[in-house]
Amino acid sequence: MTVVVLLGAPGAGKGTQAPILAGALGVPILASGDLLRAAAAAGTPLGREADRYMSRGQLVPDDTIVRVFLDRLEKPDARVGAILDGFPRTRVQAVALDRALAEADRRVDRAIFIDVAVEDLVQRMSNRRICTANGHVYNLKSNPPVVEGICDLDGSELAQRPDDDEATVRARMTEQIPPLLEVVDHYRKAGVLQNVDGREPISAVSERMLKALETAPGRVD
Ligand code: AP5
Repeated sequence: MTVVVLLGAPGAGKGTQAPILAGALGVPILASGDLLRAAAAAGTPLGREADRYMSRGQLVPDDTIVRVFLDRLEKPDARVGAILDGFPRTRVQAVALDRALAEADRRVDRAIFIDVAVEDLVQRMSNRRICTANGHVYNLKSNPPVVEGICDLDGSELAQRPDDDEATVRARMTEQIPPLLEVVDHYRKAGVLQNVDGREPISAVSERMLKALETAPGRVD
């Protein structure tokens, strides 16, 4: 199994679980949000455009993100496969991904939907902190760093993401969950979808996700 799509509402745990799956499969993580934030930090025209949408909690237009993400997917390190975190997020993106993979005689092998209720997500995101050097993910309640404000893995400072204020989080839920559910449906119809209950502690969710890679599509409880 090489190409695994992680699906979930904002804050569902995609960025937390991606390194665990990537380590198990020996493939890189391609995270659309990280690509866009890097472009925004670099001040490129793409980054400036993306930032306008991200700061309002809206999806970046399909044609922009499809171009950026499929370019990244073509890089040599992703030839062995990849964990796709945050892409596709609309049906248009899912179809574009299917088409690009098919041209290389590949396909999405598994799509894992991390299922968490919206109110839990809002709470999680208000407590999320991200390491400023490499984007490692923490939570003041469920996954705190050993030393307050410092990343356990690289010693850099932790910060709140600008789009994690409550108003933007709620906008992200309203704008992004309906198209996400269409993507979930797309992969259900393709016969590759696994649902995983994402309300459990992080380690329990990881176990379910690893199990989901080995079992037939369905629900892993
Ligand atoms: P992106 O960076 O992809 O953000 P997102 O999808 O909103 O996802 P998050 O990174 O917020 O959450 P996550 O699911 O990774 O959760 P995490 O593991 O951090 O995208 C940002 C923006 O870019 C979008 O809003 C959009 O504008 C744009 N964009 C990106 N991709 C796009 C696309 N394809 N098309 C168009 N626009 C696009 O966990 C959250 C918190 O919960 C953490 O604190 C974590 O420690 C904690 N946590 C995780 N799991 C658990 C658990 N099981 N129990 C308790 N706490 C937990």
